[in-house]
Amino acid sequence: MSNPHTVELPSYKEQSPEVARHFAEIRERPVKLEIKNLCKTFQNANGSVNVLNDVSLKVHRREFVSVIGPSGCGKSTLIRILAGLEDATSGSFLLDGDQPHGPGADRGMVFQSYTLFPWLTVKKNVMFGLEVAERSQQAAEAEAREWIDLVGLTKFADAYPRQLSGGMKQRVAIARALANQPSILFMDEPFGALDAQTRAQMQSHLLQIWRNVDITVLFVTHDLEEAIYLSDRILVLKAHPGEVLEFVEVPVSRPRSPQQFLQPEFLATKQRLEELIHPRRDIEEEALPITRMTNVGDEAE
Ligand SMILES: Nc1ncnc2c1ncn2[C@@H]1O[C@H](COP(=O)(O)OP(=O)(O)O)[C@@H](O)[C@H]1O
Ligand SMILES: [Mg+2]
Repeated sequence: MSNPHTVELPSYKEQSPEVARHFAEIRERPVKLEIKNLCKTFQNANGSVNVLNDVSLKVHRREFVSVIGPSGCGKSTLIRILAGLEDATSGSFLLDGDQPHGPGADRGMVFQSYTLFPWLTVKKNVMFGLEVAERSQQAAEAEAREWIDLVGLTKFADAYPRQLSGGMKQRVAIARALANQPSILFMDEPFGALDAQTRAQMQSHLLQIWRNVDITVLFVTHDLEEAIYLSDRILVLKAHPGEVLEFVEVPVSRPRSPQQFLQPEFLATKQRLEELIHPRRDIEEEALPITRMTNVGDEAE
């Protein structure tokens, strides 16, 4: 039965020739990250919890991949394992064909919470990893300036974190991660603490940075639109245990722009992700009796 309130959308699997060419081109690139049958079990007071189960995937060089899934499905655990901060229970992963041991400068990290050193200026924060890598002071400073320019904070190089807005702090965190020239960047809900407008600006900004830098990105988010707007592909996980439901190819052309949020292929992808993440929502809504009228402004509750 067709619902008069729903618009007929194309299948999210339908790709324009341009998008199909883009994916064919990505598949030709070398594999940057290969995850093979990764499992993670945690021990807790009630016994053991199987958090990740048999996760396998390949990400190609310079690909932008998002990871979505319900809270607790193991997104952060996956990122922590790949970053070398946690060991897998079984399975393995390869970076450029090699098995890394522990954390390394080849992998950059940006988290949701601000992880800048409050007692250092923007420039010194960005220089931190470069100085650890024993670059000369002069070289480190010149490199830091380039990254600060790239994230659009030239005027704030000598400011302290407390003088910056949330969005600016995350831009410093991105500059600091990129300054170490990692070949892959792991981002765990990096814009999760920002207000909607700043978040939208940061998304566009990240795409601009990514276009200018040879970097592969694995980006965790719970915001479906953010995942679609940014990504080539979206890994959808389910919870208990965290398993791969689908690896979705985003059929939206590049370069991306916020106007695309209303395109049929964007909406079709969003609908598919919603089905995967909240499979029973439509049924529940239909079954619920109407108990009150919805007022404008209720969203703020
Ligand atoms: N160190 C730990 N010890 C025990 N359980 C953990 C630990 N870290 C995470 N978990 C559990 O693993 C599950 C997945 O957590 P997490 O990876 O943070 O999920 P997500 O990021 O998708 O919300 C959760 O149920 C969490 O409670
Ligand atoms: Mg998490």
